[in-house]
Amino acid sequence: MSEERVRAFAPGRVNLIGEHTDYNDGLCLPFAIERGVTVTAAPLRPGRWIEARALDLGEDDRLSLAAGVRPSSAGDGWRRFVQGAVAELGRHGLEPVPCRLEISGDVPVGAGLSSSAALSVALCLALCAVAAADPPERLTLARICSRIENDWCGQQTGLLDQFASLFGQEGGAVRIDMRGPEIRRVDLRLARHVLAVVDSGARRRLAGSGYNDRRLECRQATDILGLESLRDAGPEASASLPEPLDRRVRHVLHENARVDATVAALARRDLADVGRLLDASHESLRDDYEVSVPQVERTVDECKEAGALGARIMGGGFGGSVLALFPPDTEPPKRAVPVKPAPGARLL
Ligand code: GLA
Repeated sequence: MSEERVRAFAPGRVNLIGEHTDYNDGLCLPFAIERGVTVTAAPLRPGRWIEARALDLGEDDRLSLAAGVRPSSAGDGWRRFVQGAVAELGRHGLEPVPCRLEISGDVPVGAGLSSSAALSVALCLALCAVAAADPPERLTLARICSRIENDWCGQQTGLLDQFASLFGQEGGAVRIDMRGPEIRRVDLRLARHVLAVVDSGARRRLAGSGYNDRRLECRQATDILGLESLRDAGPEASASLPEPLDRRVRHVLHENARVDATVAALARRDLADVGRLLDASHESLRDDYEVSVPQVERTVDECKEAGALGARIMGGGFGGSVLALFPPDTEPPKRAVPVKPAPGARLL
């Protein structure tokens, strides 16, 4: 057990492009942002509990360390993440230790910036550090964090957010090929252009949104096509599928191609093309994947009217934030928050 208080930080993320591709073995291009979740953990002797405080919510709880706590008895909200982290790390041989946790963060919840992945990553790093144990290597840790969301919080998310939070790099996005997986840095030189997120104000919880339905539809499509994953689908695949599966598959295939087109446009410093790709991604997410909502559409229009080269819904959809690329000398909407690539999760 650590003798001292430890502190872990995990960032939220922005996904430049490559949406709803992660759980289809596809490509995405996220970066970690400066905002995130901080978890401090202090050893508690003697003790058999984790005493946890969610500072931003003003809530406290005492959570059992016992093995065998099940998702059904894990409490609600942030408590589920704590119990999930304890249990999933336990399955990886990490003996949890009694400690006092303090959780705080500055990623707005439900804004599509991945506050929940930041929370699970920061919790896992802090729980390992307070136990004086090496954390699992980062690919494994990402999978552990994803299981916390899937099995403990009912959100059937892919690995995009966890990878972005764990592998984020200052000054660069990461091109993730989920098949492999393979992670590669992509410099983000924006020539005085600004990437900003604009909150649509529409809140969604992934667990209660159509997100899980979209995953199911992709699964149905692969079953009909007789494929392991949509990554194996050729350009003709969507033509043989019934509506709306044809459109869902078309989105995924085109979105994968847009990721590499964006990587190429960034290498050429062709930001007008990056903007066009963001717009194309949005149209596809709105019309083919059907994850937009009216407030998001209004926010996209607002960004375009303010001169954005491109703007698109970001993250799981059904609300959340819009990501927009503003050229120099334009004025983004007042509530826009500029974002830039920041380092990944770490002990402080
Ligand atoms: C959410 C999920 C991710 C990913 C995106 C859509 O952020 O957590 O795994 O599926 O939606 O790209």
